[in-house]
Amino acid sequence: MSERFNSAAAGWDKGDMRQNIADAVFQTIVSRIALTNNMKIMDFGAGTGLLSFKIAPMVGSVVGVDLSEKMLEQLEAKNTDELSVEALYHDILASSLGCEFNGIVSSMAMHHVEDTAHLFREFYAHLKKDGFIAIADLEEEDGSFHTHGNEGVYHFGFNREQLRNTIENAGFKNVRFHEVYRVEKENGNYPIFVVTAMK
Ligand SMILES: C[S@@+](CC[C@H](N)C(=O)[O-])C[C@H]1O[C@@H](n2cnc3c(N)ncnc32)[C@H](O)[C@@H]1O
Repeated sequence: MSERFNSAAAGWDKGDMRQNIADAVFQTIVSRIALTNNMKIMDFGAGTGLLSFKIAPMVGSVVGVDLSEKMLEQLEAKNTDELSVEALYHDILASSLGCEFNGIVSSMAMHHVEDTAHLFREFYAHLKKDGFIAIADLEEEDGSFHTHGNEGVYHFGFNREQLRNTIENAGFKNVRFHEVYRVEKENGNYPIFVVTAMK
């Protein structure tokens, strides 16, 4: 699966689609969650940092966690003295980072993780008391979103009620879904949500 993203990394930021998704996800997060400059945030599946670098100016620090070295290289190349995101190659489903965050954000990475229940248990374990999650992904789709094939795609979007149960079963409260964006492609329209919840 990391091969999929290693080969896509150099061209990942080209075009409007991913930038627009990251913008819409960011706008929803800041309108729903009070980000403060003492917060330590994880961006799960950060990729090239499209979302991370929007969050970074508003918080204390952002750690971009990913399993593609090439995507993380693109992220690191954007770091400056004024604004930086820590790039971290780590599989939180295999072992804990051994630290806790004030919040975990993520955009379009969850459908690449097979065991969603395990993922939310790890999110919960990596959060401080009263920490938040804000996770963006596709509403249920028919498998046509990924026009370059579905290798490494474990979920054709998510059913809200099933996902709500999964998130609540991991221990989260105040689970809320927010419609943020609609990707329009030749073969269909693909709505994206952000789900927020509290530890
Ligand atoms: C569709 S890309 C999204 C990247 C970025 N969030 C964005 O919006 O442009 C999904 C990313 O999740 C990463 N990923 C997939 N499974 C992961 C896992 N178990 N742990 C960390 N990152 C993962 C991939 O390497 C890839 O960079």
